[in-house]
Amino acid sequence: MPPQDLGPLFALLRIPSISTLPEYAGSVRECAEMIASLLRGAGMEQVELLERPGRHPLVYGEWLHAPGAPTLLFYGHYDVQPPDPLDEWTSPPFEPTIRGEHLYARGVADDKGLLLILIHAVERLHAAGTLPVNVKFLIEGEEESGGEHLTEYVRAHPARLAGLDAAIICDTEMFAPELPTICVGLRGIVYGEIHVEGARQDLHSGVYGGAAPNALHALAQVLTAIKGGDEIIRIPGFHDAVKPPTAEEREAWGRLPFDEEAYRETEMGASHLVGEAGIPLFERLWARPTFEVHGVHGGFTGTGAKTVIPARAMAKVSFRLVPDQEPGAIVECIRQAVTAAAPSGTRAEFRLQHTAPPSSVDSRNPYVQAAARAMTDVFGAETVFTRSGGSIPVVALLNHELQLPSVMMGFGLPDDNLHAPNERLYLPNFQRGIVAVTKFLESLKSFKNK
Ligand code: BES
Ligand code: ZN
Repeated sequence: MPPQDLGPLFALLRIPSISTLPEYAGSVRECAEMIASLLRGAGMEQVELLERPGRHPLVYGEWLHAPGAPTLLFYGHYDVQPPDPLDEWTSPPFEPTIRGEHLYARGVADDKGLLLILIHAVERLHAAGTLPVNVKFLIEGEEESGGEHLTEYVRAHPARLAGLDAAIICDTEMFAPELPTICVGLRGIVYGEIHVEGARQDLHSGVYGGAAPNALHALAQVLTAIKGGDEIIRIPGFHDAVKPPTAEEREAWGRLPFDEEAYRETEMGASHLVGEAGIPLFERLWARPTFEVHGVHGGFTGTGAKTVIPARAMAKVSFRLVPDQEPGAIVECIRQAVTAAAPSGTRAEFRLQHTAPPSSVDSRNPYVQAAARAMTDVFGAETVFTRSGGSIPVVALLNHELQLPSVMMGFGLPDDNLHAPNERLYLPNFQRGIVAVTKFLESLKSFKNK
C-alpha cells in the first residue's frame, strides 16, 4: 500500500478547534466543515453538519451499499484541548511540524490523526470498489469538553443509528511501541468546580486576620478533606459500587511488558509515583477512581504584594469513575461531602459541568477479535487487551443506548503528550494504522449483519 499523503492531516491540524473556549467556536465549525469535505472525498453520502444552538456541530456521513454485510459506526472527535502553556511548545501548536519520525501539533494524536486513520482506510476501500461493510460516520466536536451534543443526538435519533453491529473508535493508545493494543475499558468522569465563599468581600489581612474566614484556606481544607496525603478519597458512599478487576485481568496486567522506572523517569519526569498504598499500578490507573485538582483561582496572584483575605475561591476538579460507579449517584455523594467539608464561616458548593459513565467491552466480541487479528498481522506481535484511565463518553453511551460494542483500536503511543505541550504522533503508526483498519474491514467480508 502506498504511504498516505499527509496533506489532509496538516490542513486539519492548522485549525485551532478548541471546543471548551467559546472564542474558538468559528474554528471548531471550520474544522467540522473540513471533516465533512473529507467524508465526501471518501465516498460518503448524506454528509451533513448536525447543528444545535449553543453546541458544536456533529458531522455525519454514510455509505450503505453492502446489503447483508455488517453496518459499522465510525466515531472520532475533531475538537482539541487548549494548547497552554504555549511557551513550552518547541514549535507552535497549530503549525504542524515534523521532527524525526514524529509530527507535532495540538490534536495530532487526540484525535485528528487517529480519526483520519479511519477516514483514509474507508476512502481507500471505497476508491478500490471493495468496501465490504456499510458505514456510518458520526464525528463530534466537543468530546474534550463533555460531549453533550452527541449524547442528546444519540438519545433523540435512535432511528438514524439503528441496525448497527459495532462502533469502531481510534482514540486510544498502544500499551508500548510495537505492541498492538485494543482498549476494553475506560474510566468515566465527573467534572466540576468547587466554589467557596467566606466574608461578603475581600478584607485587609492585617486588620481582619485572626477573625475573618479566608476562602482560599477553606478551599484547601475542602480539597484535603476529599483526598488527603494518603491518596484515599474520603467521600462517604463514593466507593460503594467499585468493582475490583477479575483474577484474569489482574493476571494479564501483571504479564504486560513494563519498565516502571522508565515510566516514572522518562515518560512522566517525576521523582516518585503516588497513589493508594498496596494497590498495583495498573489497578490504580484503570480500576480505581481518582480525584484531581486541575486549577485553583482566588485571591491575589499578580506581580508584587497585596495583603488581602480573599472572600471567594474556586477549584476546577474531576473524579474519574470505574465500573460500576454511576455518575448521578456519585455527584450526589460529592455535593454532600463538599458542603459538609466547608470550615465554619464559609460555604462550599460543587457545581457540575459534565459527566460520563465508565465503560467496558467484552474482549471476546467477534469484531474486537477480528480487529486484534488485523493489528497482530500489521504490527507483527500478539495484540494485547488493556484498559485505559482516560474517558471517551461515547463508548458508554453507545453501549447503554444502542447495546453497541466499541472496538477501540489504539495507534497512539504513551509518550504522545496528550493534553500537554508538544503533543505528537509517531508517523509510522499513522501509516500502519491505515493498513490495520483496512485489513480489519476486509476481514469482515464473511460477517453478516445482525
Ligand atoms: N483520547 C482521550 C482519552 C484517552 C486517552 C483514552 C488515552 C485512552 C488513552 C480523549 O479524547 C480524552 O482525553 N477524553 C477526555 C474526556 C473528558 C473531557 C470527558 C478525558 O479523558 O479527559
Ligand atoms: Zn481523544
